[in-house]
Amino acid sequence: MQETIPAGLDRKEAEAYQRLDPARLPKHIAIIMDGNGRWARRRHLPRIAGHRAGVAAVRSTVETAARIKIPALTLYAFSEENWKKRPRSEVEFLMGLLCRYLKQEVPTLNKNNIRLEYIGRQHELPPVVQQKMEWARQATAQNSGMVLTLALNYSARTELVDAFRSLVDAASRNGGLNHLQIDEESVSRNLYTRHLPDLDFVIRTSGEMRLSNFLLWQLAYAEIHVTPTLWPEFRGVHLLESIADYQKRERRYGGLTTDGHSPSRVSRS
Ligand code: FPP
Repeated sequence: MQETIPAGLDRKEAEAYQRLDPARLPKHIAIIMDGNGRWARRRHLPRIAGHRAGVAAVRSTVETAARIKIPALTLYAFSEENWKKRPRSEVEFLMGLLCRYLKQEVPTLNKNNIRLEYIGRQHELPPVVQQKMEWARQATAQNSGMVLTLALNYSARTELVDAFRSLVDAASRNGGLNHLQIDEESVSRNLYTRHLPDLDFVIRTSGEMRLSNFLLWQLAYAEIHVTPTLWPEFRGVHLLESIADYQKRERRYGGLTTDGHSPSRVSRS
């Protein structure tokens, strides 16, 4: 089906890519990276070893997504619940890991023309982490290829609360609540993801069938793929295989199927 293989794919990735239709790649993929702890437990290692191993999966997935020209990739790195409920030592390790990742990865992000962004309540993170995040964001701001968005201290419900608050604040600054206008457009424009295209596809690793408070508004019409692969074992080739699954689906957005069935006869889009 495919003639030109993007530069930089390894043999397995090239084989998987050849099974894809390059005209129907998702424009925005989000990944719930899960299973670091289980990966470590199976090896009798501490949980942090799983997070450390997860960085290699991030690197491989990001590079492959950029090589095949996915416009936007969003990774759920750290939820608000992780931040508030995990042991302090694990949270501190994750913060350190993030800072090291940003420092090491900026040259590669630039080489691959990737722009870095964040979603989540950044201002609640430790100042030193915020500074490193801002440094990496600015260091990649000129890139025009894929947007890599890291969800850090992120919660979808908090995002909606923040969006409604900013709508109300804007109305009270501009003539009062009589001027408050709330519709789908204005809510979308006030979400953390306003810089991103609509979400087409979400992948969750490690087999759990949950959305875990991730991009709940944006997921309205997204396709979902759950793989048993634990995050530290996930690589670019798994991303390509997931996209092959995405391309088997027929997206209907609540309309009719191509053979004229109403969505009530088949599962709802
Ligand atoms: C979920 O696994 C994973 C996390 C809470 C952290 C994700 C972090 C990484 C993938 C590495 C660092 C990322 C960046 C962007 C530098 P879990 O601990 O909940 O696993 P479990 O469900 O098996 O316990």
